Amino acid sequence: RTVYLKDYQPPAYLVDEVKLTFRLAPETTRVLSEIRFRPNPDAASRDFFLHGEQLKLISASIDGTPVEPELVEGGLKLDAPDAAFTFAAEVEIDPEHNTALEGLYRSNGMYCTQCEAEGFRKITFYPDRPDVMAPFHVRVESDLPVLLSNGNPGERGDGFAEWHDPWPKPAYLFALVAGELVAHSDRFTTRSGREVELNLWVREADIDKCAFGMEALKKSMRWDEEVYGREYDLDVFNIVAVDDFNMGAMENKGLNIFNSSAVLASPETATDADFERIEAIIAHEYFHNWTGNRITCRDWFQLCLKEGLTVFRDQQFTGDMRSHAVKRIDDAMTLRAMQFREDNGPLAHPVRPESFVEINNFYTVTVYEKGAEIVGMLRRLVGEEGYRKALDLYFDRHDGQAVTIEDWLRAFEDATGRDLSQFGRWYSQAGTPRVHVTEDWADGRYTLTLRQETPATPGQPDKAPQVIPVAVGLLNPNGDEVVPTTVLELTEAEQSFHFETLSARPVPSLLRGFSAPVILKRQQSKEERAFLLAHDTDPFNKWEAGRDLARDGLMAMVLDGAGPDADYIDALGRGIADEGLDPAFRAQLLALPGEDELAQAIFETGRAPDPTAIFEAREALRRAVAERLGDVLGRLYETHQIDGPYSPEAEDAGRRALTNAALSLLSLTEGGDRARAQFRAADNMTQQIAALSALLSIEEGAAELKAFEDQWSHERLVMNKWFGLQVARATPERAAATAEALTRHSAFEWKNPNRFRAVFGALAGNAAGFHHPSGAGYRLLADWLLKLDPLNPQTTARMTQAFSTWKRYDETRQGLIRAELERIAGTEGLSRDTSEMVGRMLAD
Ligand code: ARG
Ligand code: ZN
Repeated sequence: RTVYLKDYQPPAYLVDEVKLTFRLAPETTRVLSEIRFRPNPDAASRDFFLHGEQLKLISASIDGTPVEPELVEGGLKLDAPDAAFTFAAEVEIDPEHNTALEGLYRSNGMYCTQCEAEGFRKITFYPDRPDVMAPFHVRVESDLPVLLSNGNPGERGDGFAEWHDPWPKPAYLFALVAGELVAHSDRFTTRSGREVELNLWVREADIDKCAFGMEALKKSMRWDEEVYGREYDLDVFNIVAVDDFNMGAMENKGLNIFNSSAVLASPETATDADFERIEAIIAHEYFHNWTGNRITCRDWFQLCLKEGLTVFRDQQFTGDMRSHAVKRIDDAMTLRAMQFREDNGPLAHPVRPESFVEINNFYTVTVYEKGAEIVGMLRRLVGEEGYRKALDLYFDRHDGQAVTIEDWLRAFEDATGRDLSQFGRWYSQAGTPRVHVTEDWADGRYTLTLRQETPATPGQPDKAPQVIPVAVGLLNPNGDEVVPTTVLELTEAEQSFHFETLSARPVPSLLRGFSAPVILKRQQSKEERAFLLAHDTDPFNKWEAGRDLARDGLMAMVLDGAGPDADYIDALGRGIADEGLDPAFRAQLLALPGEDELAQAIFETGRAPDPTAIFEAREALRRAVAERLGDVLGRLYETHQIDGPYSPEAEDAGRRALTNAALSLLSLTEGGDRARAQFRAADNMTQQIAALSALLSIEEGAAELKAFEDQWSHERLVMNKWFGLQVARATPERAAATAEALTRHSAFEWKNPNRFRAVFGALAGNAAGFHHPSGAGYRLLADWLLKLDPLNPQTTARMTQAFSTWKRYDETRQGLIRAELERIAGTEGLSRDTSEMVGRMLAD
């Protein structure tokens, strides 16, 4: 059954107050509810329907009189009064056997919940839709020592705890946790003087991994006050770490629940990348308190309203905490690797989709990351001040409401006077716009002509022109900037922009800062690229110039049998040796375009990419870089080592990123001694795993792999790395076999989503291994997806995306993948989640 945006109807009844009592028992939890309903004056219908799934109804009443509701598919119906009334019910649920990790479930003996998007209906009968908002009173009864829910704590006694959340919220923000947990605690005083108790709840063994997350939380709270003027609004803020969780984390009001991998960190167990990611996710969930919770979505089609905005906010935060240039490059790499891939395949959908079968399938990079890009473009178009005015108006106007993208855009229009009707197409049109660039130079006048075109996507054959902010700067031939960054607004299918009175033909630096999520199509000479790599004042485009050179070189190697491009390597050598540049940025210069990115680029030239050839070209180029730049890499490795204790701060992390990028290249020519020495000396996970990774890449490191396992077998999060790295670093021939062998390892707990993803996410990410012509990778993944689907549809459906690029490849591979997709699609009892995903990939 498909749900359509156009069918939205306001709820027949609103809720004024909710009281819930939980009597916790592993297989027989009782949930008692008392819900104050009132007819919605803005609704035409008086049909009373409550969502409910997998619930055993024990009893129900209206205003104290027992009733027998009609149980229907997905919920219950009743004849309800046309006036305010209280509906009460008692239901029984089974958290112990809830393997889908949605609703109330158990993880290592601890009770926890995940309700977004539609999990609350597995807890009790309720209008489980985000436009029904109410204050909640919750009583939890259990002998477990820690009993948590949303809001402020109320009465607490032997075997029970009460919680009151005064802020009206939709059911998807409900949360409950009960377990044997300990807290890492702190305090925060808000700008207006509210004293907030902060707790990070974990299992006792993890108490040494909380300090960083807590600091990140306090930084986030301060930042949102300073940058957005948003304060926290309860007396306590609780975060809980859970091992079994389908995604990263969840912003439940006052009680954020985190995948333990997204919050727990110590220098010994977490890498620099983990620390940065944790800081960003803590910030993300905290920022949802205003963008998501105080102002929420009218319906799930509006998901990007909270997610795109909150991702944009966490990106700004990370930029402020670390480096804006480095963060922008990282975000662009992710967007291109993941969102462009989605946008250019069978799963392409608008940032605001118009229909879905299972909403969990739409928590996508398009909704999140392209959604964030749209907010960034808006900010660029209206300016920093306009953006702040618009956000103030948005918060002011919609606090306590469930709203739409139209409301969001109207706040910008009203605050800035700008007409955003055409801009709105960014939300409704799927696909990545291509911007073709041509130049003209005559009589001191330089003309840039931009033409936009967006390829067809499923259900959207024709696209109208979008508003594309193209940030441009011009350099003169000796490398000085003659026109500083200006934003060209491309609104037509084709448009020309003129720059007058220039003394020489300039070199343009286009789409600075990656000012729009588009693909630039432009003929550009190698010399010009090397010139921009050396001289561009925009750090993003400086990096981009190197990236373009690398990509062109690699494509020539794959498609024309060319050798490694010595000019590129020399330009790269000058870049990484430039001590005026941030080490983190120089590490990014060293990162070659990924195999998947190259596959897409080759596909766009009209040819079927050969994953093996792409893998080999990248390896050959890496080896050539190592050979030609060995001296400079060796010097960087030595001079950027850090003495003294580990700190996850950006500066040290940047140095480690650079030395470890160097290490991985140096190992190709020198062998494993340097990496083995680093492995032995390492006192932190970043150094340890980088050394192990370098060794595995050259098919050494068996002893270190074993030592690592012995050292870390008691740490689930570290063991995820151990599982994943072996698959990621396996040669194309060995990838599927390595993954298969690991599934037989005694620590392969396949029901744990992190562990499952560690192995199969790594397999899907090992492009040449996954797409090995034997088809072994495809078969193995499909086998395991079919095994997981009955237990955990959400994680299964998400991981089917490994197959989403199948139409790029040659007939043999397409045939092999089609067979697996059809085998999955044809399986009896397949979940709605997985069947939607596979169906979309098989549809033409
Ligand atoms: N709202 C959460 C976040 O972005 C993610 C929830 C994901 N839910 C899902 N069903 N996939 O922080
Ligand atoms: Zn979010």
